[in-house]
Amino acid sequence: MDVKVRAARQVRGSVRTAGDKSVSHRYAMLAGLAEGTSEFENFSSSADCASTLACMAAMGAHVKRDGNHVLVTGTGGRLQKPTAPLDCGNSGSTMRMLGGIVAAQSFDSVMIGDASLSRRPMRRIIEPLGLMGAHIDSHDGCAPLTIHGAHLKGIEFRPPVASAQVKSCVLLAGLFAEGETTVLEPQRTRDHTELALRAFGGHVESTGERISLRGGQKLKAVKAYVPGDLSSVTFFLCATAIFPGSSLVVDGVLLNPTRSVVLDVMASMGVRVTFLKMEEQFGELLGTMRLEGGVFQGGLIAGAQSAALIDELPAIAAIAPYSVNGLEIRDAAELRVKECDRISAVVQNLRAMGAEVEERPDGMKIPGNQHLHGAVLDSFDDHRIAMAFAVAALRAEGDSTIHNAESVAVSFPDFFDVLATVVE
Ligand code: S3P
Repeated sequence: MDVKVRAARQVRGSVRTAGDKSVSHRYAMLAGLAEGTSEFENFSSSADCASTLACMAAMGAHVKRDGNHVLVTGTGGRLQKPTAPLDCGNSGSTMRMLGGIVAAQSFDSVMIGDASLSRRPMRRIIEPLGLMGAHIDSHDGCAPLTIHGAHLKGIEFRPPVASAQVKSCVLLAGLFAEGETTVLEPQRTRDHTELALRAFGGHVESTGERISLRGGQKLKAVKAYVPGDLSSVTFFLCATAIFPGSSLVVDGVLLNPTRSVVLDVMASMGVRVTFLKMEEQFGELLGTMRLEGGVFQGGLIAGAQSAALIDELPAIAAIAPYSVNGLEIRDAAELRVKECDRISAVVQNLRAMGAEVEERPDGMKIPGNQHLHGAVLDSFDDHRIAMAFAVAALRAEGDSTIHNAESVAVSFPDFFDVLATVVE
């Protein structure tokens, strides 16, 4: 599907997004393992989280869905052997996190994904799960994965790359393992798994870089509202950033500090962020904020900040030519192994719009004060690339076309409809 994006003058109004994708994945998995019926409001509308729900249903959880209202009756920890391969679609989170759970079951299972997911690195979970006693066959470190369930032993593990998915995989496997499982995290990553485990009645200790849990814990169903997805809101934050005088109110959005680095960074680059309301639910912060566009400065994103902003970097990079000082991104080589090679995709689309950009192995350097023109832009079948360039197109001269724009459904199916309500 091709979507035409017209140049705009500003963004104005209010935005509320469906529930956060990362939180919804974890709630769906833990609800499927828990005793009783969990009830979620504002569950993610993403195709990715639908894949997770389908996998849990394939292993015996009972899922009833009405839009973003989802009921999951859990298996009390007694998952059933799936009768067909577990289809993770485009979702790395589903394959990596659920991989930890199925590795500990008394049955074998096969995990498959689409073409993009089948290219993504899985050794990062195969290795620690192997140390715990699991046996996993792969195609040269990639899906399809054949997971031979086994009796696992707890380990102490330090992931070689900062990855919440790998941390979560090991912790979820640890839930079924003998003894204690510890993940050591020199660079803090999103902590939704730890918070969700506690929400469902589990015990997880985290002190400094150490996160530990003991195997054999029972989980209990919850009733929860899933806070709005801040990574989805980032596209609107970036649209606000490029139009001085813009103003947007965002309601009910996730403000977990391990995710809200994007707000700090964009505030330091010129967006005014005012918090109007804040509350906590099961350890997750959520609130309402006003975003106001000023002079978009640009700057440097590197080190731990790059890891914390990994999902938001494509959007920030796509608008960087409009900044006053340009943008440099370093230490973000992980972008190359996401749903597509996001460094190469951003560079190609920016060049198609006439921008000057220097591609580097672990990032890019984009000069500021550039004037871009509308162009035909490819999504590279990657939801975040489609949305990032829909936003960049708003300030270009002339219309743009986003090719293969249907990929937005992976995280934000109604993105273009919501965008249309706020652009002027
Ligand atoms: C996610 C973690 C991140 C992120 C992904 C979702 C999660 O991946 O890019 O979109 O929900 O844990 P890594 O943990 O591999 O960096």
